[in-house]
Amino acid sequence: MSAPRIAVLVSGRGSNLQAILDAIRQGGLQAQIVGVFSDKPHAAALQRVAGTLRWAADARSFPSRSDFDAALADAVAASQPDWVVCAGYMRILGDAFVERFRGRLLNIHPSLLPKYRGLHTHERALQAGDRKHGASVHFVVPELDAGAVVAQCTVPVESGDTAQSLSQRLLPREHGLLVAVLGLATEGRLAEQGGFALLDGQALFTPLPLDSAGHLILPDPLLSP
Ligand code: GRF
Repeated sequence: MSAPRIAVLVSGRGSNLQAILDAIRQGGLQAQIVGVFSDKPHAAALQRVAGTLRWAADARSFPSRSDFDAALADAVAASQPDWVVCAGYMRILGDAFVERFRGRLLNIHPSLLPKYRGLHTHERALQAGDRKHGASVHFVVPELDAGAVVAQCTVPVESGDTAQSLSQRLLPREHGLLVAVLGLATEGRLAEQGGFALLDGQALFTPLPLDSAGHLILPDPLLSP
């Protein structure tokens, strides 16, 4: 059987993409990257994979948002992915795109959702005086950062933190979180139904936490499926 197929959407440096690539190379994730897609033709992330795997187009050169989304969706669909992952993809996906891939479309967001949807999450956590911060992997739905959360990782907020120091502390945990969730996804254990994330067919009523060693803590009955 061929390895599950993952398409990755990126807009920037691509450290999350690199974490996926490293996990595959090291044997920690049984999967293959079948395409890396970007709204930024010069995104550094694109350089992390072979040219044959890259697709990029400048969204501003399309007549409308939906035209760009349709082109992106066709390109992603052509790669025949089992899962589509937004890993630092900074453009809002239109409803048509989301509906086309719904149920197999994941995003990593740097906050403890439902807190701080959208941008500037580290600044907002600091401004609010939060003692802990984190990241979430969630299913994508048309409303921004509002889909069912699968798993979260946390980091402490330390005195004197800046948005930069906080994001630097969080980033390696984000990488572990994304790879761990993709492990469940590619093993066929993850689904979305009725606004809930399902693990082994059971609804998750709280996000799975990531332990300090980078493993997801699964609910007890699910330890031995
Ligand atoms: C990450 O913090 C991710 O959570 C957010 O954007 C950042 C992307 O970083 N959505 P990278 O491009 O993967 O390095």
